[in-house]
Amino acid sequence: MSPNNYFHLICRNKLSLIVPGAVLGAVLLLALQNDRAAAQAAMAGSPRERLSLDMDWRFTKGDPPGNQVSLLYDVRPAGRGGRGGRGRRGGGAPADAAAPTNATPAPAPDVIKQWILPTGNDLIKDPAQRYTRPAGNLGGDVSYVQPGFDDNSWQHLNLPHDWAITGPWIANGDGGTGKLPFFGVGWYRKKLDLPRADAGKSIFLDVDGAMAYSTVWLNGQFVGGWPYGYESWRVDLTPFAKPGENNELVIRLDNPPTSSRWYPGGGIYRNVWLVKTAPVHVGHWGTYVTTPDASAASATVNLKVTVDNSSKENAQVSVATEIFALDASGNKTGPAVAAIPAASVQIAPGASTMTEGKTTVAQPKLWGPYPAQKPNRYVAVTTVRQGGQAVDSYETPFGIRTLKFDPNEGFFINGQHLKFNGVCDHHDLGALGSAINRRALQRQLEELVEMGCNAIRTSHNPPAPELLDLADEMGLVVMDEAFDCWLQRKTDLDYHLIFADWHEQDMRAQVRRDRNHPCVIMWSIGNEVGEQRQGETGAAVAQNLTDIVHEEDPTRPTTAAEDSATADSPFPKAIDVLGLNYQGAGRALSTTPQYPVFHASFPTNFVYGSETESTISSRGVYTFPVAKGFGAVAGTNAGAGQDDANRQMSSYDLYFPNWATSPDKEFAAQDRFPFVGGEFVWTGWDYLGEPTPFDSRSSYFGIIDLAGFKKDRFFIYQAHWRPDLKMAHILPHWTWPDRVGQMTPVHVYTSGDEAELFLNGQSLGRKQKAQYEYRLRWDDVVYRPGTLKVVAYKNGQEWATDQVQTAGDPAALSAKADRTTIRADGQDLSFVTVTVADAKGVMAPRADNSIHFDITGPGEIAATDNGDPTSFESFQSHDHKAFNGLCLAIIRSTKGAGPIVLQASSQGLQGARVTIQASATQPAP
Ligand code: GAL
Repeated sequence: MSPNNYFHLICRNKLSLIVPGAVLGAVLLLALQNDRAAAQAAMAGSPRERLSLDMDWRFTKGDPPGNQVSLLYDVRPAGRGGRGGRGRRGGGAPADAAAPTNATPAPAPDVIKQWILPTGNDLIKDPAQRYTRPAGNLGGDVSYVQPGFDDNSWQHLNLPHDWAITGPWIANGDGGTGKLPFFGVGWYRKKLDLPRADAGKSIFLDVDGAMAYSTVWLNGQFVGGWPYGYESWRVDLTPFAKPGENNELVIRLDNPPTSSRWYPGGGIYRNVWLVKTAPVHVGHWGTYVTTPDASAASATVNLKVTVDNSSKENAQVSVATEIFALDASGNKTGPAVAAIPAASVQIAPGASTMTEGKTTVAQPKLWGPYPAQKPNRYVAVTTVRQGGQAVDSYETPFGIRTLKFDPNEGFFINGQHLKFNGVCDHHDLGALGSAINRRALQRQLEELVEMGCNAIRTSHNPPAPELLDLADEMGLVVMDEAFDCWLQRKTDLDYHLIFADWHEQDMRAQVRRDRNHPCVIMWSIGNEVGEQRQGETGAAVAQNLTDIVHEEDPTRPTTAAEDSATADSPFPKAIDVLGLNYQGAGRALSTTPQYPVFHASFPTNFVYGSETESTISSRGVYTFPVAKGFGAVAGTNAGAGQDDANRQMSSYDLYFPNWATSPDKEFAAQDRFPFVGGEFVWTGWDYLGEPTPFDSRSSYFGIIDLAGFKKDRFFIYQAHWRPDLKMAHILPHWTWPDRVGQMTPVHVYTSGDEAELFLNGQSLGRKQKAQYEYRLRWDDVVYRPGTLKVVAYKNGQEWATDQVQTAGDPAALSAKADRTTIRADGQDLSFVTVTVADAKGVMAPRADNSIHFDITGPGEIAATDNGDPTSFESFQSHDHKAFNGLCLAIIRSTKGAGPIVLQASSQGLQGARVTIQASATQPAP
């Protein structure tokens, strides 16, 4: 309907009238003004509540002592030595699970999967394949489950919580997962006050993510559970809830060892919600907005709404929707800009019904990425009325935009070309572990945006919802990925064990949760899965996932990150847009670039680099001699970048494992083959685990280190991805007392096209970038202390300068907060960088002084770090060494307002302090 046809007038008593347009006349203007208020009134009248359940939990590790009841999800195959085959780096072993079927499994005495599987029934399309809950009460005899169990001795904490980030480090543990104790069983208990007024409501527990194999009980009764630790899921508490009484919620997690190739974290590491609705309500992830056509003049907005009837009677309801523009902070602005007319539907008891409607938004503000576009957003406010009464009001934020994947021209959003300047990232937040914190994630994205990044790949799993909210707000496009493996394992106890039973539910859950986000542009069904190499058998699995995705969202393509599928194999035929890992540009130095090969074999498919580079470096570390050309495979030989004694990698950004390459080589390939849609670099940020090539705690792949400090590599991307930003960056640092008189190559990254280098005022020559060259090199500079300065030019005009100076001995600390006012909400963070400098304030680039932090006022030290992958200092310690001149303290507000003072001190150095205001009125980040 068009808003001119009729309006919903919602009276104080919540009665809704649908009035034909002709009758409106004089009330039209008034109605327009009242529209927003009316929608708000409907919201206020709606019984829907979504309450955070993050506060006041009790937690303990391990099952009750002497517990005789097995709560193991399924039999775990005996270990075969941890990490499984990995394609080019291994054999690609088959799945070990006895092929599970989707039929109701025979009750097995010692495992509980037959209890858990029914939780996913709503996400199984074929009713015949759904599961039946066994009779009885699983776990009713386990002491921790029972109401009234005394959990006072358990740890008191708030969610989100990562039980492993506090360590202790496991010295001989697996570096691949970060040498932290993420595995094992953990129990969470919480008292839940449900007021008497909740009687008759539907009550749900929504978990954004818990690692892993969750089982839930309420008031001693088994409710349900979910295995995949990266999925968001819901269980229905209604049958077990006791309104007007104290309720006890219990969640058990069981995180298997050898279940991940990186640090997964452990615990309820994302937010948890209690959702209350009337029995007739919009279903879980029950709306689906699409914008089939959109231009600056007008857009069609299509909305499907699924309404559930949990009551025992037929429900006759009307479903109507109004659309409002949102401002940059996500607040509604002005009156409704469009409306979808009320549709009447009848829903049988216990059933769901979907209604579909559409409307036109005139002169829509389109959603698109910066800097060329703006991420404008809207919200659809859907009101369900029964007997004239608003029984539900449901908000669906969305954006209006069109996507096009052109095999020859690349990717277009709203008709404008966008090359993916993307990065892959894992989910951990460095020293804060996996526990989601919006500000920490926002900081990660802000630094990436500063670099010119416009695209994020959620490697290799569904992200926290906050990531998509932030990407919507910040205008980043997202490749939303589901799995790191299917039936072929990568580690002994990874997802391959449950793929057969759960891939449909997990895939549908991800798409339903995320499909209204304008930032999501494609669905990745898998990363480097072993099935790529299994001919038609593997392609059939891919096709099955592609079909599921198309059923849930026909508007976006599927993709997969293919490292070993060949252009003549069946696998790529089963996906829509072709992501190539490493093979696109050609691995290491010599293999043939596969971008043109895939392009020729699939002339109607879009091709891009789904995972690229994997360059390895440690911030501030440089080894000599320096590799030539596009670089070298990392190794111990001269010019191969490894500092074995210190387990560090050189930061000349020219070293990589044998399956990977350097930024320079990938840039050249992308430029040579302009049909390529862009790339997703492995990785934007360092992450816990996978410390290739050493046995450390965290990776070397990041462009930004684990503490958030930029490595040199940041600037080669910035130079290439932000050609209009005036910048130049010199490497290495210029404090080499042991290299006087020695050849010390100087490289410069600049968005200019030529540059002149000066040492102590003396020109070392002016150089110009050749075609397919992305750095300027002065490889024969003889080191002498002093000042090294570069002047960059673009089109013959001076463009940017940079300089580095030889530092004296460390003399003083300085401290700088990224935000000096934070919100006094117990969650907001300020990231304080402490720099070790000489007496003149020049950063001491090799300084590793121990720094002690003291804090006063309404704040606490949430974590400390220095970005050194080899550091095994505790992230919670108030003492931390600097790494190559820098150290980080992460300050979290408590709930009080006032000044927080952080003092940094170090023996023999002048200390530093910084003041951060905690304010109750500061908007949340
Ligand atoms: C890729 C893989 C990533 C990471 C990376 C390291 O093959 O997809 O998860 O392991 O290698 O280079």
